[in-house]
Amino acid sequence: MTGFLGATMLWIKAGHVIFVIFLMAGLFMMPRFFVYHQQCAVGSDEDRKWIEREDRLRRIILNPSLAIVWVFGLMLAFNGNYWGQGWFIAKLVLVIALSGYHGWTIGYFKKLQKGERPLTEKQLRLLNEVPGAAAAIIVILAVIRP
Ligand code: HEM
Repeated sequence: MTGFLGATMLWIKAGHVIFVIFLMAGLFMMPRFFVYHQQCAVGSDEDRKWIEREDRLRRIILNPSLAIVWVFGLMLAFNGNYWGQGWFIAKLVLVIALSGYHGWTIGYFKKLQKGERPLTEKQLRLLNEVPGAAAAIIVILAVIRP
């Protein structure tokens, strides 16, 4: 096993993939929550319950998972010194975009919290396809390294 991580590298990689799963689960859930959330009246009991659920998903699952995926991913990148490789640069661009998508979900949550509903249900359902498509390409880049 090469690199400064030595044999620990496989543990870091396992941790990376485990938190990728948590992150993706959260990213799939959030816009779906938004769709159901938007169906209830602003200020209603149901509205407050959705705000609470979204807040917990953000604080307990999404934010910590994203941070850990980044920390472990960067450790793996320095360990393997992949900076000059096309698959890694392409993966990096996509994970930055995915992190931006995460940022968008947080921003949208804050709007819902204020009683705003800027997007339609159809638009939210379409946006919900983004993380799945991005994850499929990211995994192909990371595993096959074309
Ligand atoms: C957030 C920034 C990320 C960075 C910097 C990063 C970096 C890396 C690096 C360098 C490796 C290769 C480890 C090695 O074998 O030497 C790796 C493996 C992997 N990454 Fe990431 N990653 C990130 C996010 C993600 C995301 C969001 C996904 C999935 C949606 C993902 C899925 C994977 C998978 C499945 C592997 C295992 C590949 C294999 O061993 O065959 N990564 N990551």
